[in-house]
Amino acid sequence: MTAHVTETSGPALVALAAARTAHNYSPLPVVVEHAEGAWMTDVDGRRYLDLLAGYSALNFGHGHPALLRAAHDQLDRLTLTSRAFLHDQFGAFCAELGDLAGKELVLPMNTGAEAVETTIKVARKWGYDVKGVPADSARIVVAAGNFHGRTTTIVGFSDDPDARGGFGPFAPGFVRVPYGDLAALEAALDEHTVAVLLEPIQVESGVVIPPDGYLRGVREACTRENVLFAADEIQSGLGRTGRTFACDHEDVVPDMYVLGKALGGGIVPVSAVVANTDVLGVLHPGQHGSTFGGNPLACAVGRQVVAMLATGEYQERADKLGLRMRERLDALLGKGLVAVRTRGLWAGVDIDPRIGTGRSVCEALMARGVLAKDTHGSTIRLAPPLVIEEADLDWGLDQLAAVVTGG
Ligand SMILES: Cc1ncc(COP(=O)(O)O)c(C=O)c1O
Repeated sequence: MTAHVTETSGPALVALAAARTAHNYSPLPVVVEHAEGAWMTDVDGRRYLDLLAGYSALNFGHGHPALLRAAHDQLDRLTLTSRAFLHDQFGAFCAELGDLAGKELVLPMNTGAEAVETTIKVARKWGYDVKGVPADSARIVVAAGNFHGRTTTIVGFSDDPDARGGFGPFAPGFVRVPYGDLAALEAALDEHTVAVLLEPIQVESGVVIPPDGYLRGVREACTRENVLFAADEIQSGLGRTGRTFACDHEDVVPDMYVLGKALGGGIVPVSAVVANTDVLGVLHPGQHGSTFGGNPLACAVGRQVVAMLATGEYQERADKLGLRMRERLDALLGKGLVAVRTRGLWAGVDIDPRIGTGRSVCEALMARGVLAKDTHGSTIRLAPPLVIEEADLDWGLDQLAAVVTGG
């Protein structure tokens, strides 16, 4: 018999989820019912400031009116055609996103992992068709500490034991080098290398920013060795760091931008690979695809995201609020925090182990009405929606200060 669930209280819904879902996450015990801007409200009416923003998928906050309007308008007209037919939002989305990135072509997918898989396929195909790499011998250079998603191919080149343990055998063709070490990366490039796949800022490792000049050095090495540079900007891109792309901080233009998260405006999963014709042009009908990739709703929302980013307003806001956040976090160094890394409105903060773990600090923050996410034991990532009010950001950071200083 099918159960009709009548539970509505937070604790009951937490227990239900624990009992009836796979435990592939360990969420904080909060059950959100609605949200607006940077604020979420749980089923029991408690309000929380969102300092995670859906891992940057909610860069524009919850329920941004322009994004909701785009979604509603599209919902009433057309939601799905599959890629067997064109629809009126498809070409426009691809052209507008391509222009934002300064590239000719766009290949829309749904999730970030799919965009990364697409990148891998395109890079290999380019390697065989254009570079002349012998069949089935293409290699892609990746970085230690990477996080590019959860498919079997992708976790196969991760070095995180939780991500890969128990999921082999894995696809060959990947070489891992230390992140931020240009000499090691250069040494790994050879005639079989088709691409370097990197996050311009490593997120799961705790918002790790490579040394100045690293991305530029990678760009130069890739150009010199005839290797594609694919930048996974799924989390770092689209305004988060105070620029449209994190690569912009070093005036670096990769061959392939890998985008996701905020591209869907926090409404629908939208990802994309963005590159010029000499790269994405290697794909022909039947060689790659997705039923939902580039669907009308995704494209309508994605067009609005691109239009909002084209104003530069959100990048500027991330820059300005990011400086404020940096100042506030720096003041906590030696007072509960042992390290702070920021770029734009994005921070990785390392908690003094004497205070507690990342998780215990997130739990204490939750009790004070702030939601954030720990990573790798002692680190907390802060990625507030870019629309957050400065006073709210200050209040959220006051709560962090109180937790880590025992105030
Ligand atoms: C840098 C990066 N790449 C890829 C992914 C995978 O995206 P998705 O979870 O949408 O598959 C993520 C998700 O956190 C990410 O941060």
